[in-house]
Amino acid sequence: SQAAEPFKIGLIIPMTGPFASTGKQIEAAARLYMQQNGDEVAGRKIELIVKDDGGVQPEATKRIAQELVVQDKVGVLAGFGLTPLAFATAPIATQSKTPMVVMAAGTSSIVQKSPYIVRTSMTLPQVTAPMGQWAAKEGGIKSAVTLIADYGPGHDAEKAFVKNFSEAGGKVLDSLRVPMQNPDFSPFLQRVRDLKPDALFIFVPSGQGSTLMKQFTERNLAGQGIKLIGTGDVLDDDLLPAMGDEALGIITSQHYSTAHDSPENKAYVEAFRKMTNNSMRPNFMSVGGYDGMHLIYEALKKAGPNANGDQLLAAMKGMKWVSPRGPMQIDPETRDVVQDIYIRRSERLADGQIYNVEFDVIKEFKDPGI
Ligand code: DHB
Repeated sequence: SQAAEPFKIGLIIPMTGPFASTGKQIEAAARLYMQQNGDEVAGRKIELIVKDDGGVQPEATKRIAQELVVQDKVGVLAGFGLTPLAFATAPIATQSKTPMVVMAAGTSSIVQKSPYIVRTSMTLPQVTAPMGQWAAKEGGIKSAVTLIADYGPGHDAEKAFVKNFSEAGGKVLDSLRVPMQNPDFSPFLQRVRDLKPDALFIFVPSGQGSTLMKQFTERNLAGQGIKLIGTGDVLDDDLLPAMGDEALGIITSQHYSTAHDSPENKAYVEAFRKMTNNSMRPNFMSVGGYDGMHLIYEALKKAGPNANGDQLLAAMKGMKWVSPRGPMQIDPETRDVVQDIYIRRSERLADGQIYNVEFDVIKEFKDPGI
């Protein structure tokens, strides 16, 4: 008899281009998961096929997904570094009945684009709502300006911040949107300087935080008494080691920090650093990849090694586990991630590096939508 075909996972991520850090983080984490858990599940060999989509052309991502389904016969599609790439690929998942595990993209509506989509990253309303409330209630911030990347996750972050901050008594003076590709924040930061709010709320996608921090510092907004706050994407753990004192004392909200204090995370960070020869720190994108692999492995164990797409999807719904980020689960109704959201302050720790140190938590928080 013939040996069974391997179960193939098609991982489509940006490994080149402006969002290459997202792909590198996810790939390293996926390979770490396989190193730790083996390349066989319930007797069936697992094959990871990594494809670089460059991160900026939705049609390229869609075409790669189509090829993976038709030619490689993958059992699962995974990755999706940015929202437009996930949107473009959703019809392929639906037509081919292939589970599509979104490991990075964060626009709330993504899970509605196909009944085969399951998400292990985060949603921007999920991460932002607690920040808006914290700023007004605990942060002593009375007025704010929002500045976001002008596409799906930015729009979600803007709406969620304005709603939650306003309902908690804060006043939003203006909402600014900066082009998502090659952004120049300077003219927008000048406008913020003129408006002089208590705080500037920021969302930029992973990879753009350094440019934002540099231009925020050049304009000396902190010297004008304007506090920077945001989602954790701006103080991404991937970029923090290269930032200086300007990145200290900043409050952000997110679902993952390299500094998350748990035995699971200590083991994860140590193994990740070892596997990448200490060249990078695991960030929130990495756990999206690591947990996505966990979800696929566990679904195969539960549904059996020869399960079809519908059976795997059914096994994924309601799955619950302890991630390096903390406890998480897949909502069986929405197929979206339910997780703890932390409020963090950036501090220099004993190793001399800056980390996002969690000091408050909103437990088992679902995407509130927008
Ligand atoms: C998305 C991309 C990011 O790099 C990020 O940090 C958050 C969201 C997105 O495109 O959905």
